[in-house]
Amino acid sequence: MVFDSLVKGRRENLRWGEFYQGSTGNRGDLADCLARFRIDAVMHFAAFIEVGESVADPAAYYLNNVAGSLQLMQAMAQGGIRRMVYSSSAAVYGSPLRVPIDEEHPLTPLSPYGWSKQMVETMLADFGTAWGLRSMALRYFNAAGAAASGEIGEQHTPESHLIPRILEAALAGDRPVTVYGTNYPTPDGTCIRDYIHVTDLARAHVLALEYLLDGGPGGAFNLGQGQGASVMEVVRKAAEITGRPIAVEPAARRPGDPPVLVASNEKARRELGWMPEHSSLDNIVATAWKWHRKMKGLA
Ligand SMILES: NC(=O)c1ccc[n+]([C@@H]2O[C@H](COP(=O)([O-])OP(=O)(O)OC[C@H]3O[C@@H](n4cnc5c(N)ncnc54)[C@H](O)[C@@H]3O)[C@@H](O)[C@H]2O)c1
Repeated sequence: MVFDSLVKGRRENLRWGEFYQGSTGNRGDLADCLARFRIDAVMHFAAFIEVGESVADPAAYYLNNVAGSLQLMQAMAQGGIRRMVYSSSAAVYGSPLRVPIDEEHPLTPLSPYGWSKQMVETMLADFGTAWGLRSMALRYFNAAGAAASGEIGEQHTPESHLIPRILEAALAGDRPVTVYGTNYPTPDGTCIRDYIHVTDLARAHVLALEYLLDGGPGGAFNLGQGQGASVMEVVRKAAEITGRPIAVEPAARRPGDPPVLVASNEKARRELGWMPEHSSLDNIVATAWKWHRKMKGLA
């Protein structure tokens, strides 16, 4: 079953299972939900996700992401639910000291958003020690792409993610994509990120849950494809797949944006048997394009 306040999510994207509208910020919602449904494990995605917004309004982030998670864990403790798959983030690493980034890399986030993810990871470990919660902290790199069917896809408000911004620009045709920083120490001067398809992420969640159900101890796992693409490579790929010209507008670097973020996914491959299968840049952009066209009534 899905528990979501819909503070950011959309009802029409919830296609499967039962739905309970509630907030992790509301103890009553959590208690009522746990009383109504027999729950064996929780996959915890609920959070605010905008790095820039978290810098401007840290209280909102610590309240929703940290205090909300704490209330959820307390409700789980009361209900005897001892398994959680948690949406962490590559943002816990901050500016990388080495790439590819492995799970042993120091955690020095650069924003309240990143710290909120790190703090919940620490709480999960402490709850593990205190009452046997077993948890998987899945550190996603850049989630991207859409369902191959075109049924569901990425739809954030505001949209800060690169691929939807590029595709929106391709559809609009009359505005350039802003590229933050064109003088990074990378081959074309733009930032390199590790894009991972949502279908691969979804598969990793199933494997993570099976791992916990099989008695696995839990821990932190990077979910990235292990290769990066630069902003300009993504723009070129989008122009190729959409068949539309995409203009770019160079802008200053954003504070806290490291030049390269690429995952080592060895641990997830080894311990979960996970392998990214849908994360070629072609497939990511093509599935996202299918979804964007459908949203605009063009498909
Ligand atoms: N999108 C990415 O690239 C990415 C990368 C790393 C980690 N993550 C993490 O993955 C998770 C999902 O991200 P997303 O991109 O799907 O974001 P999203 O905003 O689309 O989804 C978050 C969902 O949580 C809900 N929510 C927020 N606060 C809530 C609360 N207090 N109680 C109940 N529901 C609440 C929202 O309504 C929304 O449906 C987040 O935890 C995010 O930090 C995302």
